[in-house]
Amino acid sequence: MKRTHYCGELRAQHAGQTVTLQGWVNRRRDLGGLIFLDLRDRAGLIQVVAVPDTAPVFAEAGRAKAEYVLEITGTVRLRPEGQRTARLATGEVELLASNLVILAESKTPPFLIDGSVDAREISEELRLQHRYLDLRRPEAAYPIRLRHTISKAIWDYLDAQGFIQVETPLLTLSTPEGARDYVVPSRVQPGAFYALPQSPQLFKQLLMMAGFDRYFQLARCFRDEDLRADRQPDFTQLDLELSFIDQDDLLALNEGLMAHVVQTALGREVATPFPRLSYQEAMASYGSDKPDLRFELRLTDLSAVFAATALRSFSAVLEAGGAIKALPIPAALAKLSRKTLTELELHAKQHGAQGLAWLRREGDGFSGSIAKALSEAEQAALLAQAPQPGDLLLIAADRWQIACTALGAVRTKLGRDLALYDAQALVFLWVVDFPLLERDEERGGYTYMHHPFTRPHDQDLAKLDSDPGAVRAWAYDLVLNGNEIGGGSLRIHRYDVQLKMFEALGFSEAEAKERFGFFLEALAYGAPPHGGIAWGLDRLVMLLAGASSLREVIAFPKNQRGVDPLTGAPRALTSAQLAELRLKVIA
Ligand code: AMO
Repeated sequence: MKRTHYCGELRAQHAGQTVTLQGWVNRRRDLGGLIFLDLRDRAGLIQVVAVPDTAPVFAEAGRAKAEYVLEITGTVRLRPEGQRTARLATGEVELLASNLVILAESKTPPFLIDGSVDAREISEELRLQHRYLDLRRPEAAYPIRLRHTISKAIWDYLDAQGFIQVETPLLTLSTPEGARDYVVPSRVQPGAFYALPQSPQLFKQLLMMAGFDRYFQLARCFRDEDLRADRQPDFTQLDLELSFIDQDDLLALNEGLMAHVVQTALGREVATPFPRLSYQEAMASYGSDKPDLRFELRLTDLSAVFAATALRSFSAVLEAGGAIKALPIPAALAKLSRKTLTELELHAKQHGAQGLAWLRREGDGFSGSIAKALSEAEQAALLAQAPQPGDLLLIAADRWQIACTALGAVRTKLGRDLALYDAQALVFLWVVDFPLLERDEERGGYTYMHHPFTRPHDQDLAKLDSDPGAVRAWAYDLVLNGNEIGGGSLRIHRYDVQLKMFEALGFSEAEAKERFGFFLEALAYGAPPHGGIAWGLDRLVMLLAGASSLREVIAFPKNQRGVDPLTGAPRALTSAQLAELRLKVIA
């Protein structure tokens, strides 16, 4: 190799040495007979000086423009006093060029990548279209490098714990995780389709049945669902599974792994064990199954206070079995204007609430949208919830789930808008004891909350027939700063229980065998008790990198319409391809 150093490595200690560098021109400045080039590579920038005395070098340097690729040999020297800068890691030195070769020229880039413009001011679509240029910016490359560090930390830790990595098929059958499948037509079996895996769920369970005992994989998963900032159609999970363990074993292993990852990636300590909240507590107190515990605001239940209310809308909700939930906001924390309250009401409505009532403590009474309807007894009871003048109660009356969710959304918005937390904090928690099933509003009946292989609590098994919604699952989610970064469960390992579960989901034995026959068959040959989890690797990297979208932590992401602006995928097939696959596109 001709290169002796990376540009960004050079320091005062290298002064006097002759070095050869290769990299890109970040910027060129011509100054009174001298040419300055900032040369960039993956390690950083160094200032290069070309002087007229070395005529061929000076001529070539004069030709070099932004993003030309150069090879430069020269002597490292200390910059003159007064020209040293702490802005660059190499700011004490510069390279006096004695030889300069242009290895490649460059067109004028479609956007500035020399660090002089904030990337947020450049259209993201344009940056993604030329992602290879975008990634020349150190800020854009950082999350991709951090991702590597995190992946390696995962590998090292799990390898030391006896896990083995196994790849599972990408061309497979549907794995139910609640999204639509991406499908791939088979050429040799016209009319038959593979599905890309939504997760390796069934295969990792089969690996446990095969006796591997501890498996992991950095697995590509594919889900056709509505895209958001925290979702990509193809994404990566850290997927793992263990046999002969209980929930405590699994959570402890994950806490150790996470602490190792954060320590390796950011050099920061993470306190373990992580707090645990039941799903019920998380919803009741924070209105979310992924609560952000970086700030303390908590929901309360005012159903008892309003048991005899004169407010028709409230009493109707209570008669229908609903709840009156409130989010108290201490005046010491924030004084919300009428305009803000109107915005919050709109936000609550967008999350399903019929409205958002409010009460503000004034002396020993209340002002606000429902103040006039309060009885003396109600007023007295509410004073305890709003102990200081100016304290506010935001109130939602609805089905319990909706009231909690809507106030939870208001809580999250306030946390963000009022900056109620330290943006640097990393607050992990487990949400446990999820319900096994939830009502399927579209189809009627019940559907699984995680996937159909989740083990119910033994004590709740009898309720699968009588009260399916009350059956608790051995399922857990890992939450970081209000984001679900992982989810998993202990699994059903008995054939009869799995059949019963399919039955509760409305599948007949014949239907279950039709879809999952191969899996049921495997369960019939002695499956070990087992369980696992999958982390959303992209989401974790996003949060640890301080990025605001998954697109920043994926080298070649899709945009919000599921399109890759660089390659133009997805695209129509040629008529020859369609004919070969025996496919016809109906417009
Ligand atoms: P789950 O569906 O909860 O569980 O997925 C695990 C984690 O994957 C991440 N995730 C996503 N990340 C980016 N884009 C998406 N479209 C996307 N969808 C999910 C989330 C989520 O917590 N087989 C089970 C795991 C198990 O039971 O072991 C599963 O896939 O961070």
